[in-house]
Amino acid sequence: MSVLATRDLTVRFGGHVAVNGVTCSFEPGTLTAIVGPNGAGKTTYFNLISGQLRASSGSVTLGGRDLSGDSASQRTRAGLGRAFQLTNLFPRLSVLENVRLAVQATRDGRHRRGLNLWSIWSDHAALTQRADEILDAVAMKAKEHELVASLPHGDQRKLEVALLMALEPQVYMFDEPTAGMNHAEAPVILDLIRRLKADKTKTILLVEHKMDVVRELADRIIVLHNGALVADGEPAEVIASPVVQEAYLGVSTQKEAA
Ligand SMILES: Nc1ncnc2c1ncn2[C@@H]1O[C@H](COP(=O)(O)OP(=O)(O)OP(=O)(O)O)[C@@H](O)[C@H]1O
Ligand SMILES: [Mg+2]
Repeated sequence: MSVLATRDLTVRFGGHVAVNGVTCSFEPGTLTAIVGPNGAGKTTYFNLISGQLRASSGSVTLGGRDLSGDSASQRTRAGLGRAFQLTNLFPRLSVLENVRLAVQATRDGRHRRGLNLWSIWSDHAALTQRADEILDAVAMKAKEHELVASLPHGDQRKLEVALLMALEPQVYMFDEPTAGMNHAEAPVILDLIRRLKADKTKTILLVEHKMDVVRELADRIIVLHNGALVADGEPAEVIASPVVQEAYLGVSTQKEAA
């Protein structure tokens, strides 16, 4: 059964249709790469799924539940986890404190209770244990007592993935996760995504321009062009398709044939 689905999802900005009737579903245990030229509507599609943007028409469902009327934070609580760059970190707190707060916020949200001194005290050990597990998973345990503000950029980006993991989402959404990273930093983030992929219960959506990354990580590729879904299938098949060769990679198949 598909976990996440969009149906006829459309958004118009004035006369411009940025996402145009996209119907697509995403299965647990798969990583789907979303590719397409600049301005194709990839980020806008993510905004519509995560609730940063309201659709003009169409729906977003998660596990059969219609989230179309829900806010972004309601969708996060429902299980949609989107990575945002550096926006959720507390720079003056330690790495461990940041992750522990994220774990706590998730658990409190799930149990629908507010800040409660007794629960903070009694859960402290459990929260720390979970935060430790996450820091282990992102290979940042050795830096748990460092202040976030003092971390190198690459470590801050790893920490963002850690905070996302603390949310325990069903769906992970990454929009060009290695953009702005140097050669040393990018492989670390890709390795984290690879590890998330090993958890077969998770659904991963990855917007990525780098075709070598897409080729390696994707189980499936969908192509957006002018807001519409124009190809969907196995990576090798989609990459070889004329629509990708022409529209996305800028290769003119006619010219090649000539
Ligand atoms: N809030 C907005 N208001 C008006 N137009 C918008 C808005 N957000 C996006 N657009 C337009 O929608 C289209 C799709 O943009 P989007 O950012 O989704 O493309 P993208 O596929 O993510 O491109 P890139 O690969 O460059 O990140 C573009 O023409 C863009 O200018
Ligand atoms: Mg974009």
